[in-house]
Amino acid sequence: MDERTLTLIRDVPDYPKPGILFKDITPLLGDATAFAAVVDELAGLAEVDKIVGIEARGFILAAPVAYRGGSGFVPVRKKGKLPAETLEESYDLEYGSAAIEVHRDAFAPGDRVLIVDDVLATGGTAAATVELVRRAGAEVVGVAVLMELAFLKGRERLPGVDVHALLTV
Ligand code: PRP
Repeated sequence: MDERTLTLIRDVPDYPKPGILFKDITPLLGDATAFAAVVDELAGLAEVDKIVGIEARGFILAAPVAYRGGSGFVPVRKKGKLPAETLEESYDLEYGSAAIEVHRDAFAPGDRVLIVDDVLATGGTAAATVELVRRAGAEVVGVAVLMELAFLKGRERLPGVDVHALLTV
């Protein structure tokens, strides 16, 4: 990513909690040139059958990446949001746990899939999504994110998975 794109990610102190420096990508999304550059770069990473986007901020990038790359789009949503039969995975949060779901019939057998999200932090969300995609009978080609928070070591929860980050902080 070029320097200008980097400057469009702003630090917001004390969000969502005191002491946390939040990386806000909304200025980047609001800039037509930077947004297109990010989508184009993610779409160029792999030729796949489906792009999986993770609710909610992951959808913002994953849907245009699917369109750009000529792939289908599959949403992974927080528990209770998908209408048909689902597969579910739980993962740990700092306090408690969360669950995400995908439609059981979202993939054809052996579909090649790229998982797209905005941020890789602890890796819990991405690891649960990899599990869901595999359980649904598809092949995970990789996980692609705009930004990796390397100090949280999310990659360590994705052994054997090709992880690609456009920016690492
Ligand atoms: C954020 C982000 C990733 C996830 C990364 O989503 O969009 O999906 O956290 O964190 P992890 O690597 O520690 O699992 P969040 O759950 O805040 O939901 P949102 O996109 O709906 O705001």
